[in-house]
Amino acid sequence: MGAYADTYERSINEPEGFWLEAARGVSWTKAPTKALDDSRAPLYRWFPDGELNTAYNALDRHVESDRGNQAALIWDSPVTSSQRTYTYTELRDEVARFAGGLRSLGVGTGDRVIIYMPMVPEAVVAMLACARLGAVHSVVFGGFAAKELAARVEDAKPKAVVAASCGIEPGRVVEYKPIVEDALATTAHQPDHVLVLQREAAPCTLTDRDVDWTDLMSGAVPADPVPVAATDPLYVLYTSGTTGKPKGVVRDNGGHAVALAWSMGAVYDIHPGDVWWTASDVGWVVGHSYIVYAPLLVGATTVLYEGKPVGTPDAGAFWRVISEHGVKALFTAPTALRAVKRVDPDAAELAKYDLREFTTLFLAGERLDPETYHWAHEHLGVPVVDHWWQTETGWPIAANLRGLEPMPVKPGSATMPVPGWNVQILDQDGRRLPAGQEGAIAIELPLPPGTLPTLWGDDERFDDERFTEAYLSRYDGYYLTGDSGYLDADGYLFVMGRTDDVINVAGHRLSTGSMEAVLAAHPAVAECAVIGVADRLKGQLPRGFVVLKASVEITEDRLRDDLVEAVRSEIGPVAAFREVSIVPALPKTRSGKILRKTMRGIADGRDEPVPSTIEDPEVLTALEPVLRTDR
Ligand code: COA
Ligand code: AMP
Repeated sequence: MGAYADTYERSINEPEGFWLEAARGVSWTKAPTKALDDSRAPLYRWFPDGELNTAYNALDRHVESDRGNQAALIWDSPVTSSQRTYTYTELRDEVARFAGGLRSLGVGTGDRVIIYMPMVPEAVVAMLACARLGAVHSVVFGGFAAKELAARVEDAKPKAVVAASCGIEPGRVVEYKPIVEDALATTAHQPDHVLVLQREAAPCTLTDRDVDWTDLMSGAVPADPVPVAATDPLYVLYTSGTTGKPKGVVRDNGGHAVALAWSMGAVYDIHPGDVWWTASDVGWVVGHSYIVYAPLLVGATTVLYEGKPVGTPDAGAFWRVISEHGVKALFTAPTALRAVKRVDPDAAELAKYDLREFTTLFLAGERLDPETYHWAHEHLGVPVVDHWWQTETGWPIAANLRGLEPMPVKPGSATMPVPGWNVQILDQDGRRLPAGQEGAIAIELPLPPGTLPTLWGDDERFDDERFTEAYLSRYDGYYLTGDSGYLDADGYLFVMGRTDDVINVAGHRLSTGSMEAVLAAHPAVAECAVIGVADRLKGQLPRGFVVLKASVEITEDRLRDDLVEAVRSEIGPVAAFREVSIVPALPKTRSGKILRKTMRGIADGRDEPVPSTIEDPEVLTALEPVLRTDR
């Protein structure tokens, strides 16, 4: 058997031995004697008797093993014309001091801290400082508006919020502090402190409960890493589900450190001293796992980039970063490449840079369309590796294992299930489908270490019930991914799209359900549906269809302006919601369910079968020209 087949088989058939061996890749204050705790199946925990500190593993142990002078983090910020490099010693010291500062404000093990910051090194410092104390961070992406931030504050009940005064987007400065204030003005839960990093582009006024980052750091006593149980939560990251209420995905300490360190070598072929760049945002899971934790856990150098792929200053921005910092591999979303391709279709900018160190491009977060794959492969001349995973899983489910056994690439496929992941394709009744047939992609339980053990509940405890209901109840013994797809005869996985109302806009996961809730609140709206339709740049864009209340008079333009503004201010600019059509009626089943999937299929130009349960076929016929309108 090859290395992949051998490793995969062992991971599935002997998970205990496999993961205890992988656990040697991290340092424990109390080494685990057992890998899997299945005493509460279908709820599983990993390394139940292990103890460790994640920040110690990400920083201190590299300083102790002579990597203190190696760059741990390179911040490259074309939007502020700045760069800063932290060695492992410097980053450890910053983190220890900020952890001491947090402790002086009363933050301790198990307390939650919300981090609402742009792509600045202090965001990474804040995350690792929480990990050092055993506090639980919850990072909120800066493109979310006050209401989304408020929902997370209410659910996580943080002792402190860490924010920056502003973020910098192309052509505008986004003031974060007023967004934090607006959010906290509406929440019943109030944090004791708001810590503020003042940025030159837009410093803010501090109020009584605010603490200035620099002041806190100047008087802080460095804190040592606090050992925690492997099963204690490291972070909660909220993600969109089918309903408006985001799900708080819980990540533990032990399984997370083991799985991420393992993946860095086996999947990405990144090792101590390599320079690695993930162009995403710390507010997303890709940022948590592969900007912050995984590269630092293995002693690599991570690049933190504050800017867009184009326009900072030109279409060569990505190639400049790769060449300037000697990046070995880049991980980003296909959208970023489409943005580059749009302004530089022949990749002329590439010729200006020396990309000799660059070996691999990894893409994930949304479907990789073959056109973008071929463009990247042709121009970069390195393997372009699509891989598939989710916020819930924390690390790749299917990938081309570049560090274990590189495999031939099939465009359109995320390649093979990664060791640890028993991927099955199921039909409606839970029967396994043969190769080539599309169905629900499900993972046979238990999920490997590093995956969500449960969801966060809004009363300061784990919500096993919501977790079970959302992911484990559809198919007995399986985790439901929410994606559909098929395995081909060689075992390659093809991910075709979501089976629920989650959409993916520029690699950002959003819920159409929460957009519908915003639209429905408008006084003129009787009924509405939001669907994700194909978009050449962002992969998908949301599109709203609205039925007006009887006797309401409003123009489509006026309604669109209102609704676009409402989504922007309640969910955030990241939703990129711009399109609204007023329609006479929405197509429904006889039981009243809106036929969103059928609408989506027609809008994307597919031959979508019309369900036999449709109530009034003429409504759909009338809607077809609107759905097919080329936007
Ligand atoms: N803080 C505040 N606002 C933000 C923000 C942040 N952190 N991130 C995005 N926004 C705003 C943008 O300014 C934009 O506002 P606008 O409507 O006023 O222009 C809006 O949210 C949409 O942002 P975005 O989707 O990023 O679109 P864009 O046109 O600015 O950039 C791309 C398009 C393709 C360049 C960009 O989406 C990109 O680089 N995507 C990479 C994908 C990625 O990182 N995915 C993460 C998972 S891997
Ligand atoms: P997120 O939780 O934000 O990482 O989004 C996860 C979802 O993005 C998945 O459930 C998929 O629908 C989609 N996705 C992520 N990576 C890929 C990929 N490589 N191919 C197709 N879809 C993907």
